[in-house]
Amino acid sequence: MNITVIGTGYVGLTTGVCMASKGHKVYCVDISKEKIDAINSGTSPIYEEGMDDLLKQALKKGLLKATLDAENSIKDSEVVFICVGTPSREDGSINLDYIKTAAETVSQNLNNYKVIVVKSTVVPGTTVNVVKPVMDKSKKSYGLCMNPEFLKEGTAVKDFLEGDRIVLGVIDDESEDVMRKVYKDFPQKIFVTNPTTAEMIKYANNSLLAAKISFANEVGNVCKKLGINVYEVMDGVGMDKRLCRSFLNAGIGFGGSCFPKDVKALISKGEELKEPMTLLKSVISVNEKQPIKMVELLKKHLNPANKKIGLLGLAFKKGTDDVREAPSLKIIDELLSLKAEVIAYDPEAMSNVKKIYNNKIILADNKEEVVKKSDAVLIITDWDEFKVPELYKNKIVIDGRKIKTNAEIYEGICW
Ligand code: UGA
Repeated sequence: MNITVIGTGYVGLTTGVCMASKGHKVYCVDISKEKIDAINSGTSPIYEEGMDDLLKQALKKGLLKATLDAENSIKDSEVVFICVGTPSREDGSINLDYIKTAAETVSQNLNNYKVIVVKSTVVPGTTVNVVKPVMDKSKKSYGLCMNPEFLKEGTAVKDFLEGDRIVLGVIDDESEDVMRKVYKDFPQKIFVTNPTTAEMIKYANNSLLAAKISFANEVGNVCKKLGINVYEVMDGVGMDKRLCRSFLNAGIGFGGSCFPKDVKALISKGEELKEPMTLLKSVISVNEKQPIKMVELLKKHLNPANKKIGLLGLAFKKGTDDVREAPSLKIIDELLSLKAEVIAYDPEAMSNVKKIYNNKIILADNKEEVVKKSDAVLIITDWDEFKVPELYKNKIVIDGRKIKTNAEIYEGICW
């Protein structure tokens, strides 16, 4: 089938490349010439395991083309995926401007029947109340589907090709038939529902995962005071099949472009409907305090003022260069406000952090330099290269990620 994907961020590019890997002919549309050129030359603008290989194969077979030309791509396609960003506004509500612009572009170029697929994460009601009216303006026949993504940064390609299920929120049988054809060579089970339910599945999914993490952190904070290892507690809890062990790793809290934004957007939707989401507000509140606990533990051992504090890891999790909503940023801000000097290293995220702090922190060349030059070390991200117990010999270490160390003074955040 011919498919257009609008937006070449990590969701859009993953969708395009994975669809091409199944034999579809894909146009990846974006407004950034730089990104288009990179993709067409076989270099993915984002780092995702397996992405460059699949991209190169798709280009070689002539099954993928990145382009600025939305008009002709849409006209030549049977299916159009909308994969643009849905950032948060100041008040936590979702900004749908990019979705509206993409929908207008599709609507203006509807030359024959095609299925429009919203893949961006949008609050319940958006596909039917915002996207559909724009399509109706075209006076052409079309199909509509809300197809949420469940991709984790770092394993997006694998998650797309082998994830737990595919959710199709369709407006009619014809849209479902086309979408089943799109996904016919994917092994996952397909769950069919309406668009608004599909939108809520995505929000409920991310919110429950975030809730598991905040739950583990809250229990972990109490465990810390009782001298209990929360990882052992969660290993025991996770043996209950009703609960499942994953996403119960306590630590410095969740970051990234998804959990904080999606939970806040759902809270904001609840407010709008006069249904305050007390539980989810607490999930956010626990999460916001968690990184600061690292600094509180540090203060037990030294006064950070005028001391050099080393940070190992800056990305919100390993396997990515992404620092959006990363706990590291809160910790850096707190340390700088306490007049500490910060020296940090991350294998991937240094340039993104440099854009935020310029010369306010020292960016080291490697982990050894951080450890050597600092008065105490905070472990922020669990990159494999930091899992060397010897590295921390004779140091004060505050660990947010449960890494084994030979530190002289060691404090785990929740253990
Ligand atoms: C998350 C979801 O896992 C995906 O299913 C979803 O598609 C995606 O958001 C999205 O909405 O696009 P992602 O943000 O890439 O994926 O990363 P996760 O691996 O889920 O981790 C999120 C955060 O939670 C990280 O900061 C991680 O360190 C933290 N985390 C995760 C914990 O603190 N403890 C855990 O047990 C698991």
